[in-house]
Amino acid sequence: MAFFQGVPVTIRGSGMYVPSKVVTNEELSKIVETSDEWIRERTGIRRRHIAEAGELTSALAERAGRAALENAGVSSSEVDMIIVATNSPDTLFPGVAPKVQGLLGAEKSGAFDVQSGCTSGVYSIVLAVNGIASGIWRNVLVIGAEVLSPLVDWTDRNTCVLFGDGAGAMLLGPSNGEGRFLSAELRADGTKHDQITLLGGLIENPASLESIEQKKHFVAMKGNDVFKFVNRVIPPFLKDFCEDSGLSADAIDCWFFHQANQRIIERAAERLGIAPERVFINLDEYGNTSAASVFIALSEYMKLGRLHPGQRLLFTAFGAGMTYGGVIYES
Ligand code: UT7
Repeated sequence: MAFFQGVPVTIRGSGMYVPSKVVTNEELSKIVETSDEWIRERTGIRRRHIAEAGELTSALAERAGRAALENAGVSSSEVDMIIVATNSPDTLFPGVAPKVQGLLGAEKSGAFDVQSGCTSGVYSIVLAVNGIASGIWRNVLVIGAEVLSPLVDWTDRNTCVLFGDGAGAMLLGPSNGEGRFLSAELRADGTKHDQITLLGGLIENPASLESIEQKKHFVAMKGNDVFKFVNRVIPPFLKDFCEDSGLSADAIDCWFFHQANQRIIERAAERLGIAPERVFINLDEYGNTSAASVFIALSEYMKLGRLHPGQRLLFTAFGAGMTYGGVIYES
């Protein structure tokens, strides 16, 4: 059963931060053999924000986290747990979340990272909701943050045109009747673990001259295999998830898909019979910001004043692992 039990949990605030530097498709076409037309037609992406050298994931996460706290009117000393969803931590350890806890001065808070491909954000939201629902935490700051640009091979047109850097955050807490998370479903298919990888620098492929020559320290993706996997698996998964939640796809007011590819999102929406205006898309501006994408999308949605009481929002993502999942919120 996919329903949350216990204390109802609401979104108290949201925030985001993206680096100011923008890289357009046109600029990319000067460094790899690609074109604005190819990138727009195949992905929907027009621009992406890219961190400056030394601008770390923890710095982006801190700014997005601060913005969410401000939006919620909650001080950092009231936060019980900070969860950072990321695939591009500053270092393997310490994690990003403890650094953010220190930067925010959230002296009563615990902190940990979640790394589960682009689905990390959705996994983190579900963990946070469960922690609040069970009564062990009250305010949880959930942040999706990525600086993937140093992990991307800027000579590989298969990957470098896709990703962008950025961070988004939600402050979750117990609800006094003003909205609640309804249900969630998290899945994985580890038989497809070779579809999106960053192999170098750890146990299987320790850093060596050879690992560097073989470009094992960069993101590698079998893009078309991922595309087919997602097109095959995600629409029926979402249909079943809605049904198990007692809802038709039609009962969702806004769909927050992981912002990987506009064609993937539009195909899924078509198969589920979702009206295009119910799908939030901002990948044209940010590219694929991996674990951060659903948070950045929600933050923009709220800034646009589009969130109203009684709406149902569905957040869904898919990514390395392969992992995928969804979570439904009623405002
Ligand atoms: O966030 C995690 C989840 N990730 C995703 O969801 C990504 C899923 N995959 C995709 O979004 C798409 O597969 C891509 C956008 C990555 C690629 O689109 P595609 O329609 O699957 O293209 P393809 O990989 O089948 O490549 C088609 C052609 C190839 O040329 P040939 O072999 O037909 O001559 C590629 O070499 O396009 C070529 N190509 C490019 N051409 C210009 C690949 N990348 C580029 C490029 N510019 N940047």
